[in-house]
Amino acid sequence: MPKVTFIEHNGTAHTVEAANGESLMRAAVDNNVPGIDGDCGGECACATCHVYVEADWWEKVGGRTETEETMLSFAAATKDNSRLCCQIMMSDALDGIVVHTPDGQH
Ligand code: FES
Repeated sequence: MPKVTFIEHNGTAHTVEAANGESLMRAAVDNNVPGIDGDCGGECACATCHVYVEADWWEKVGGRTETEETMLSFAAATKDNSRLCCQIMMSDALDGIVVHTPDGQH
């Protein structure tokens, strides 16, 4: 299965597997990755799955949805490379993707 690495604000890395078609949020929650709560269950309605996508992967993950843009406008500490990872679906093309969790998410 493809892998995704989540790096916490303190530098701790967690590499987990995610099935094709599964969201990065689901993979994080199922593997108890700190800082990704996924409170809304992936409905793009909570922003507790906020991550920063590393530059090498930004183009590959595709663009934000309109709903995601709206949710991110309410989220703390957003950056140009912010995404809600419940909206990023794993695929073989994303094998090895690296994302970072914001400082405020533990
Ligand atoms: Fe709620 Fe992503 S899990 S917005």
